[in-house]
Amino acid sequence: MAPTVILIGFMGAGKSTVGGRLFRELGWDFIDADRVVEKEMGMDIPRAFAEKGEDGFRREEERVTLSLLDQTALNTGGTVIALGGGAVTIRSVTERLQEEPLVFFLDVDLDTAYERSRDTSRPLAEDAEKFRSIFADRQRLYRDAATYVIDTRGREAGQVAGEIVRILREGGHA
Ligand code: S3P
Repeated sequence: MAPTVILIGFMGAGKSTVGGRLFRELGWDFIDADRVVEKEMGMDIPRAFAEKGEDGFRREEERVTLSLLDQTALNTGGTVIALGGGAVTIRSVTERLQEEPLVFFLDVDLDTAYERSRDTSRPLAEDAEKFRSIFADRQRLYRDAATYVIDTRGREAGQVAGEIVRILREGGHA
């Protein structure tokens, strides 16, 4: 079966950037789940939160994420999927991730995550206190869902991608 690498982690952890690096380095497909949700909803994420509420966004995120995971299982080549930062709050998604052998948690510190996420129009990064609180609440969820925890602190996206490629090669996946 062709491998599927799944990147999880908080907003600003670098999931999309590292996914892009892996795409270039491995030549695998790269799917950014947030972009697929936006396409399916016909609106960007800030508007989806404003019009449908966080619950409406999560329902679409759930549907899209589960469907992406089912589709990539059928791919003949490797795939990298970056999930939205809140995908791990959806029970059906975390249950599905238990079946996946290559779930990489990009572990980022709160200050770096906030610096990268503020002023980016992410609805859940508008309020620093809320951002801090969901950061704390989610740490256990990421760790429980992950098969590998990758420390991104003080490291460039290229180094983080390099570590993932090394793990994939050592495991015979790439
Ligand atoms: C969210 C993270 C965002 C996006 C949405 C909600 C979250 O994705 O899905 O704004 O709840 O953490 P990124 O992690 O790609 O920023």
